This record gives sequence, structure tokens and C-alpha cells, in this order.
Amino acid sequence: MTLTVALSKGKLLPGSEALFRRAGLPFPESEGRRLVVAIDGLRFLFVKDMDVPTYVEYGVADCGIAGRDVLLEAGSDVYEPLDLGFGRCRLVVARQRDGARPGDASTLRVATKYPRVTERYFLEHGVSAEVVKLAGSVEIAPGLGLADCIVDVVETGRTLEENGLVPVEDVAQSTARFIVNRASYHARREDVSRLLESLRRAAS
Ligand code: PRP
Repeated sequence: MTLTVALSKGKLLPGSEALFRRAGLPFPESEGRRLVVAIDGLRFLFVKDMDVPTYVEYGVADCGIAGRDVLLEAGSDVYEPLDLGFGRCRLVVARQRDGARPGDASTLRVATKYPRVTERYFLEHGVSAEVVKLAGSVEIAPGLGLADCIVDVVETGRTLEENGLVPVEDVAQSTARFIVNRASYHARREDVSRLLESLRRAAS
């Protein structure tokens, strides 16, 4: 029976494709626009990065590839048996390079695509924070007065740099992880293990 794999259409897609090809596994041609593609015993779902853990947790996909940043935010109940090593990035707190630091007594307003991670981080650090959820382009929020700082992903650092921000604290490190639905892990053990081992060899 076909295994269903959920993959992100975003930044992790090139790394995921390279990994599958290195492992000698089937992978759909990149120029396609179809979001569900079956090929040689595997079925691929191409979804938004934040939705990968959801498809896997609910068993619509048996497995998938998601960034640790996304897994921390989603808090989904899935197995995470393999760190794939690519898609390395950090989640940071960043603020305006030339901006005034808000006084200790004030509540920080923080813009982010990662509200749960952000709430937890500031709570653990005893800092009063109001989290403003955005869907993207978070780096413009401080300059436009929407927030005092942001929590976002930094890969090369270019987006921060070009928008006048500097990282001030590390929140988490992230790489791409292979994740598996808990029921599939047992019920489809042989198929899942075969795929897992192929990816493990190709990733190392
Ligand atoms: C991510 C992230 C940063 C950027 C970081 O955004 O939110 O904006 O990449 O990469 P860099 O450090 O290499 O510049 P994404 O491309 O996913 O777009 P979005 O902001 O619209 O979500």
C-alpha cells in the first residue's frame, strides 16, 4: 500500500527533493503545480510548512518533513525519529538597530509567525509580552510601529539586515526533521522503516 508523505512547499522543498533523489527514492518533477502527486508507491502532499505536522498528526499523511521551528510551534503529537540536518536556521528575538530599548516596566509588543513559541519564551524569561500574530514579512513590524521587536527565523541574516534589525537573543535552533504518525509507525512499520533507513543513509 502507498505511503503518504507531507512536504513543505516552502524553504525546505529543495532540500527535501535533494534528499529523496540522493536516497534513490521517487520524487515528482519540480515544475508541476499539483499538490497531491502519486509516484512509484509514494504519495506526496505539498502543503504550507506549518500544516505538515497537522497532516501527519491526523494520519492523512503517514510521515513528513518539517522544521524543528514549526514542530515547536505546532506542538503536534508525532514521532520525530530523524534529524535530517538540512534547513539549518535559528529562531531569534530581533529589534531595530537604531531603536530605543523599551523601559523595563513596559510590556513588550512582539510580532511573530510563532505565537506559541514566543509566548513560552517570554514567560520563561519573566518578561511581560503581548504577542501580535502575523502571517509573514514580520521584519517590517518594528519599523512601522506595530511591535517593539520580532521573533522570527534567521537563515542567512539578510532579511534582518536589509530591514534594519539586529538579532539580540537566540530562542531555538532548527533543522529539518523526519516525522511519523504514531499509528502508522506501528501499523505500517515495514514501509515506514524502509523509508526512514533510506533517508537516514542519504542524510548522513
Ligand atoms: C523566512 C523568515 C525570514 C527569512 C529569513 O521568511 O521569516 O523572513 O525567511 O531568511 P534570511 O535570514 O536568509 O534572510 P519566508 O521566506 O519563509 O517568508 P515570510 O516572511 O513571508 O514567511
